[in-house]
Amino acid sequence: MKTLNLKLMLASIALVMLANFAGAQELRDMALPAPKTEGGKPLMQALKERQTSRAYDTKKLPLQVLSDLLWAGFGINRPDSGKRTAPSTRNWQEIDIYVVMEEGTYLYDAKANILKAVAKGDLRKMTGPQEFVAPAPINLVFVADTSKMKGASQDDLSLYAGADVGFISQNIYLFCASEGLATVVRGMIGDKKALAEALKLPAEKKIILAQTVGYPAPVK
Ligand SMILES: Cc1cc2nc3c(=O)[nH]c(=O)nc-3n(C[C@H](O)[C@H](O)[C@H](O)COP(=O)(O)O)c2cc1C
Repeated sequence: MKTLNLKLMLASIALVMLANFAGAQELRDMALPAPKTEGGKPLMQALKERQTSRAYDTKKLPLQVLSDLLWAGFGINRPDSGKRTAPSTRNWQEIDIYVVMEEGTYLYDAKANILKAVAKGDLRKMTGPQEFVAPAPINLVFVADTSKMKGASQDDLSLYAGADVGFISQNIYLFCASEGLATVVRGMIGDKKALAEALKLPAEKKIILAQTVGYPAPVK
């Protein structure tokens, strides 16, 4: 009887260890709370306060704020048609938003309102060489899925992808102004090839810009 108990105990310890090991290996998809689509500062006040900031606190954003931020950036605001808070050329909706955080990187799925797990571990440093980037809680990477840009010439591809990211980025700037958050859109990304590999991007998905978001650094 004693040996059986011991065996059972060892087996359960092994199971717990295995589960912990699997947990440490995997990053899971994360459900986002429904975005809060009311309130905020009046538009004219948000426009007055819109600005670039390069000094961030390391404090994390609550999941609700992240959900609101992503919805403001490129969420679905007309569920009947699936259209979004930012315009996109020919309604291609080709821009993907990767959310790079300390614990891992996720892809924003606006329709399911979830963050899809992309890569475990901290890739923030890979999103840009400027000093404030790595310690900031969130770095967004805007990626154009050129396979959705049917009929566009090579010149048009960069023009339209750049413009479409610009609208999303400005939505995020205005959301940040409204919420008292700090942000900067960034062309300075560093090694785009290495980042594309870390994000597991196929050749048709191109990194366009990045955007850092967080609470403003406390005034000293
Ligand atoms: C396409 C684009 C790329 C930018 N790239 C960077 C960047 O890599 N790093 C940075 O610190 N600021 C970057 N900025 C922010 C600009 O420097 C900033 O918007 C400008 O100085 C004006 O400041 P304001 O946004 O407060 O009006 C970029 C802005 C744009 C529109």
